[in-house]
Amino acid sequence: MRILSGIQPTGILHIGNYFGMMRPAIALQAEGEAFYFIADYHALTTIDNPETLRANSRRIALDFLACGLDPDRGALFRQSDVPQVAELAWILSTVTPKALLERAHSYKDKVARGLPASAGLFTYPVLMAADILIYDSDLVPVGKDQKQHLEMTRDIALKFNETFGGVLRLPEPHIQPATETVPGLDGQKMSKSYGNTIDIFGDEKEMRKRVMSIVTDSSPVEAAKDPGSSTIFHLYSLFASKDETTAMREAFQRGGTGYGDFKKQLFAKLWEYFEPMRKRRAEILADHDYIDTVLARGAERANLVADKVMARVREAVGL
Ligand code: TYM
Repeated sequence: MRILSGIQPTGILHIGNYFGMMRPAIALQAEGEAFYFIADYHALTTIDNPETLRANSRRIALDFLACGLDPDRGALFRQSDVPQVAELAWILSTVTPKALLERAHSYKDKVARGLPASAGLFTYPVLMAADILIYDSDLVPVGKDQKQHLEMTRDIALKFNETFGGVLRLPEPHIQPATETVPGLDGQKMSKSYGNTIDIFGDEKEMRKRVMSIVTDSSPVEAAKDPGSSTIFHLYSLFASKDETTAMREAFQRGGTGYGDFKKQLFAKLWEYFEPMRKRRAEILADHDYIDTVLARGAERANLVADKVMARVREAVGL
């Protein structure tokens, strides 16, 4: 089984990325052959500074490795180190109905937020389909916001196979209900573009400040509170053990504890949870060539598979 996923190097990793994609992706390394990449071609739809793109890409690699990606099991690489994916995206675009792309939530959302409606932004899902299909991927761990992109990938692959024969393998999304949408400070989906993130490797003071700024209702300390509608409780349950989660749920329902105290408990858990990863990150940083070596090895493995699939595709379409 081949497992594949990607992440855009558009900024700093937050706990939405961690629970939605990285943690399941890391867990799946033991189940098959894992291919994980840094989607730098995709990031060109929003970043136009070359230094920023390069620095962000290395930083994502560093953070992903620090979180537990094992480069001896899985391949970690830059999307652009397998440029055949752009060729496949072109070929797929010739069988992709324009109307399919017009239905993409993510495109509509980005344009509504003021991003220029470039052709690249519009055809983003076709490149994403190519990313997945070029590695004969079986399983794609993602957060819920990527579900529609996965459906589009399957639609595009089906259309291609109908036209040219059964050349492309159909992937399945791997979306875990408990972590499919991690809420941000304001209760909306955590997202860099909403400015509501808690970054995994932010410094301690900043992380505490962010946690303390989680939006709550105005219930007084004595009042019983609803854990089900609380972002604090939701986030805490992602990090804490079952018993700890039950204890916090009961404390919410009992009343007598203020939101400030719950936030402090959440911060303590969060900080403790990422402690080993901060350590690992410092070790990787101390080893100058490590990231480049890992990315080069990953690209080599990815290219071998991509070349095989592209040979099939080129043969099938007559190139
Ligand atoms: P990106 O870079 O926006 O996000 C990376 C991963 O993090 C997940 N995620 C979340 N999950 C739960 N709750 C949240 N608040 C949250 N925020 C982000 C995303 O669902 C994603 O899995 N288009 C992709 C990158 C991509 C890709 C691919 C992914 C390009 N090609 C091929 C899979 C396969 C993206 O922009 O993810």
